[in-house]
Amino acid sequence: MRKIYSESKKIGKIEIKNRFVRSATGERIASEDGRVTDELIEFYKVLAEGGVGLIITGVTYVHENGKGIPNQLAIDRDDLIPGLRKLTEIVHKYGEGCKIVVQLHHSGRQSMVLDNPMAPSAVFEPTFHVKPREMTKEDIVDTVEAFVEAARRAEEARFDAIQLHAAHGYLLSQFLSPYTNKRTDEYGGTIENRVRIIEEIYKKTVENVGPDFPILIKMNVDDFLEGGINLDESMQIAEILSKMGFAAIETSGCMWEVILRTKKELGWHPAFNPEARINIDSKEKEAYHLPYAKEIKKVINTPLILVGGIRSLDIIENILNEGNADFIGLCRPLIREPDLPNKWLKGTGEITCECISCNGCTGSLLSGSLRCTQKK
Ligand SMILES: Cc1cc2nc3c(=O)[nH]c(=O)nc-3n(C[C@H](O)[C@H](O)[C@H](O)COP(=O)(O)O)c2cc1C
Ligand code: SF4
Repeated sequence: MRKIYSESKKIGKIEIKNRFVRSATGERIASEDGRVTDELIEFYKVLAEGGVGLIITGVTYVHENGKGIPNQLAIDRDDLIPGLRKLTEIVHKYGEGCKIVVQLHHSGRQSMVLDNPMAPSAVFEPTFHVKPREMTKEDIVDTVEAFVEAARRAEEARFDAIQLHAAHGYLLSQFLSPYTNKRTDEYGGTIENRVRIIEEIYKKTVENVGPDFPILIKMNVDDFLEGGINLDESMQIAEILSKMGFAAIETSGCMWEVILRTKKELGWHPAFNPEARINIDSKEKEAYHLPYAKEIKKVINTPLILVGGIRSLDIIENILNEGNADFIGLCRPLIREPDLPNKWLKGTGEITCECISCNGCTGSLLSGSLRCTQKK
């Protein structure tokens, strides 16, 4: 019997061959100035060969003033297009129908590399110990333009779609959240105002690249911070984004400073990577954003990608069969086992995901390139 996770489904006009999505995973494998390297191409070839239906790249910066980590992939200049095209070609060639989406990113106040970052408002960021400067209207216009230009480059580099990173406390998430957005102009205050920068990016991108190029978005179901977005607000935001025309919504949660608020006595440690919870060692702990996604699914008409602690095939089947999500996002399981989708799609009997959710991989990003620290 054909299993639901092996069935194809569309995101916008593109057909995804199965329901497994590699959720964006920052790699730190680009060159210092953000170029695609041979190592990065090999990394994506292995992922594509592993059977996943859709790969979302790691955070890719649209402007140097939004760079988040060293050796981050960039899409802020036209001379990067040939390298990015090599990346899409390798995925299309070796992935047997696998699609690739670039995640467009601006770090705002959460940057490991910028001393004087900008943000919607000058709200102190305790993880990176920085008070950002408040963006001017001109900064906002320039940032919208940077995203729109990055989308054009993505299409020229033959990505199948783009995803706006509006989750995890980065710039677009900072605009959405009343915790980080204290503006009194048309970009702050009401939900409509906080969504405005995303709406401008969306509309100008459609004008520029046409309606057939899918635009996805990753957003927080909850900031898990007092004064931040809660489920009630995220449902309203998701409804607006769905009506606007986003091709898919990926549901995640958290901002970086949640770590400090919850683990103040311990200080910062990669194990507390807030969006990637540790110790998913029982089925009860899996799919930790599912209760939120179920509510969001009720108010949107666009496919939902659920991510966060999903580790077992029977849980995946239930989520899909019950219509609580259309696609399953996997990050850490594919760092550990890039061929896990093929194991699940082609194997028999219970196939256990080997990732133990220890976040050693998050730690690896602090000092160098991404790796699973549990892998021999
Ligand atoms: C090492 C690492 C890097 C990540 N990089 C990104 C990223 O570039 N963009 C993003 O949206 N989320 C990123 N995330 C979050 C994941 O996409 C995902 O939302 C989270 O890890 C939960 O899914 P999982 O339980 O399948 O790992 C990262 C997570 C980890 C562990
Ligand atoms: S280090 Fe390896 S086992 Fe640990 S969370 Fe990351 S991918 Fe999973």
